[in-house]
Amino acid sequence: MTKKRQILVTNALPYANAALHLGHILEYTQTDVWVRFQRMRGHQCYYVSADDAHGTAIMLKADEKGISPEQHIADMRSIHEADFRDFHISVDNYHSTHSDENKQYAELIYNRLVENDHIAKREITQAFDAEKQLFLADRYIKGTCPKCKAEDQYGDNCEACGATYSPTDLINPVSALSGTTPIEKQSTHYFFKLPEFTEFLKSWTRSGAVQDEVANKLGEWLESGLQEWDISRDAPYFGFEIPNAPNKFFYVWLDAPIGYMASFKNLCDQQNLDFDQFWAADSSAELYHFIGKDIVNFHALFWPAMLTSANFRTPTKVCVHGFVTVNGKKMSKSRGTFINARCYLDHLNPEYLRYYYASKLTASVEDIDLNLEDFIQKVNSDLVGKVVNIASRCAKFITKGNDGILSTHIADTALWQQVSDAGNKIAEHYEQREYSKAIREIMAQADAANEYIAAKEPWKLNKDPSQQQQVQDICSLGINLFRLLLTYLKPVIPTMAADGEAFLNDQLTWESIKQPLVGHQINNFKPLLQRVEKEKVDAMVEASKQEVEQTTKAILEGPLADEPIADEINFDDFMKVDLRVARIVKAEAVEGADKLLALTLDIGGETRNVFSGIKSSYQATDLEGRLTVMVANLAPRKMRFGVSEGMVLAAGDDNGIYLLSPDSGAEPGQRIT
Ligand code: MSP
Ligand code: ZN
Repeated sequence: MTKKRQILVTNALPYANAALHLGHILEYTQTDVWVRFQRMRGHQCYYVSADDAHGTAIMLKADEKGISPEQHIADMRSIHEADFRDFHISVDNYHSTHSDENKQYAELIYNRLVENDHIAKREITQAFDAEKQLFLADRYIKGTCPKCKAEDQYGDNCEACGATYSPTDLINPVSALSGTTPIEKQSTHYFFKLPEFTEFLKSWTRSGAVQDEVANKLGEWLESGLQEWDISRDAPYFGFEIPNAPNKFFYVWLDAPIGYMASFKNLCDQQNLDFDQFWAADSSAELYHFIGKDIVNFHALFWPAMLTSANFRTPTKVCVHGFVTVNGKKMSKSRGTFINARCYLDHLNPEYLRYYYASKLTASVEDIDLNLEDFIQKVNSDLVGKVVNIASRCAKFITKGNDGILSTHIADTALWQQVSDAGNKIAEHYEQREYSKAIREIMAQADAANEYIAAKEPWKLNKDPSQQQQVQDICSLGINLFRLLLTYLKPVIPTMAADGEAFLNDQLTWESIKQPLVGHQINNFKPLLQRVEKEKVDAMVEASKQEVEQTTKAILEGPLADEPIADEINFDDFMKVDLRVARIVKAEAVEGADKLLALTLDIGGETRNVFSGIKSSYQATDLEGRLTVMVANLAPRKMRFGVSEGMVLAAGDDNGIYLLSPDSGAEPGQRIT
């Protein structure tokens, strides 16, 4: 065994203002596979994560929900933790940037930057919303594009013509928060003197710490000159107050990466580990950050510069991945391809996606396409058709013919050796994050195993009593090859591997591939994986569409009065929608859901349970007894809180929601045409 390495791994900390989607899951799968691989190799590998809990967006989100930011981030954290757990992301600790440890390290690092004269202080002029009493970041200012005159564009760039500009260039700028015209206001800000680290960063980015393509991109920025980085924000801001600077707060991105340290410190306190061994300037441990291509500057410029100034070690590697597209396009809410992690889990086994992502992941920053047809095809043909198939074809002959005891010798040692030796190459691919190459190699070996069994046809030999030993030998080798393949796949599909371990009565490690199982007792075989069903994939896409229509469109995005009229439909299409008069017999709040009421509807002898996002405008008890209109033939939809059996009709936006009701005299159950 090679020398035991000490490794600390992180993924980018998800913002505490939104649920995780399948883009996040790509990153967390990439990280988790690498971590599980290192642990299987016998290294000491810790994996920490946390919620990124600070910033204006989170403060406003909590406001909108009418709860404290602390409550909001606590809610989000438990949702994120459940998503991590259910996708089998094996973090050793999940923490928060809004924590004592993070405050302590943010202050410590900042104070060291001050001592080293790496912090500058000066007045800047900024847009200010006088009604909300808030300084406005660019994305909270909207107006008419100075170039193409498109209306309603954000403060830093135009979605219509692609122009970039500063918010002061916008024609008729308004605050996206209050609709009032922003005024200009001065304020003192604190800056990290990044340009002083230019030479350090030029060599650090070329030291192998990032992929070449990333180093090239960073090289362009380094050549064109770095700017000082504004690390402060004015109150009100949800974050940590800057030491000796009342009413000034650390910008969220200052303390976000420090959250990696904070989560690890929290783990050290739980498990009595040595923090300095991993973070001291002369640490011999390895530090890996897995991130997406959109946040490279924070991790490969600001972060190493801060760490150096503050006398901590710098990352061994910042591993950058590309973005997930679905069916070749950017994830889209209207196409139903903006799929939340929970929605996926409600419909499909997480290991299908882990396998699919692994089969596509490389060490480059190229985007990764989740093609749903290909996803079904690949999982079914590789995992079910090639891998599980070996065990299901061979196991029955061993358990029936030989009481579950494998033969005492290997029938074809060359084949065994070939598949065993492939482990070296596969390990090298995992180490280099070339998972797609690892998977291709594993499947090539699976093909070899299947060819062997197909050529030997043990099911035919089994009919001849004199061939019993032959059958045992062939199938024992089959089971041994299956064991090797499952070992190689264990970082990717950990629960299937655990079920396989129970069947094989063996613990799968990278050490154990050197020796076959001979004269070894195995257990009864149970199917290890079901095929992916297309219907379930379709149902997931449909549910994603509806999730968005119901929650985001009607409630979060505000008035739709200016939305264009939808495409024309014919009368038959209209008649497909079965609208009924309904009486609300019961209405109650839903625990854990801020916008939803659970309604029990009587539609004339039949009752329906429907969740509706109308809580902000109605008192539950006021609704009881009242008539409304519902879509009665909508496919039932599984939500986090239960199944919704239809939809009630309402108009509305942030300013109010208006439930439809028929004139008096209408009866529950009457159809509306
Ligand atoms: N909070 C910051 C990270 C702070 S790290 C100190 C953040 N959060 S995020 O929730 O927006 O994104 C978390 C990670 O998910 C990032 O690495 C980001 O690149 C990644 N992804 C977000 N959308 C993605 C895709 N569509 N595809 C792949 N990864 C994506 O950034
Ligand atoms: Zn424009």
